[in-house]
Amino acid sequence: MTDDRTTHFGFETVPEGDKAGLVRGVFSSVASKYDVMNDAMSLGIHRIWKDAMMDWLAPRSGQKLLDVAGGTGDVAFRFLKRAKVGHATVLDLTEPMLIEGRKRAEAAQLEDSLDWIVGDAMALPFEDNTFDVYTISFGIRNVTRPQEALAEAYRVLKPGGRLMVLEFSQIPNEMLQKMLFEPPHLLPPTFKPIPS
Ligand SMILES: C[S@@+](CC[C@H](N)C(=O)[O-])C[C@H]1O[C@@H](n2cnc3c(N)ncnc32)[C@H](O)[C@@H]1O
Repeated sequence: MTDDRTTHFGFETVPEGDKAGLVRGVFSSVASKYDVMNDAMSLGIHRIWKDAMMDWLAPRSGQKLLDVAGGTGDVAFRFLKRAKVGHATVLDLTEPMLIEGRKRAEAAQLEDSLDWIVGDAMALPFEDNTFDVYTISFGIRNVTRPQEALAEAYRVLKPGGRLMVLEFSQIPNEMLQKMLFEPPHLLPPTFKPIPS
């Protein structure tokens, strides 16, 4: 039996089975430039949003973080800085993104506080009730079936654990929404919001 379910990839509709490969292709090709691109294209605003997420989370010493779709580790580094003593696991579908993150960890002498795992948000390679915090920043829109990722988040979080999702949404100003997200748009495909 063929599986003819489809999903979105940017503004395109693609077979569900193709999406992970397409996502991996995009992020593999930009991995070495991702951090610079992220700053340039968001004018540094992504840093403010990530800091705000950490303000809200208020990491505590001894906590264990799982940052899914964690890319080059931006959220994990912020978490460790605030928790002082803690551990972060960064999981991502795209190995070259994690390789860039590991280089950053080595430069900051944080290797012992971090794990870098290649994996899929929809099938996490961790036991139930493992983490205090689960974060996913600018990643859930790339996941083929977000509800499966959320079910996995619930499974691996300890009772009372925190789930935090940082993602684009509709901009309440129609003109700004059009300028930024509708073709011809100012932001590249990886910065498009989840179609509502
Ligand atoms: C826009 S980047 C965000 C990286 C980082 N979280 C940040 O905020 O800078 C999206 C990341 O999601 C990853 N990703 C997409 N689908 C995924 C999935 N199903 N499971 C794990 N990672 C995924 C991509 O490989 C990519 O590294």
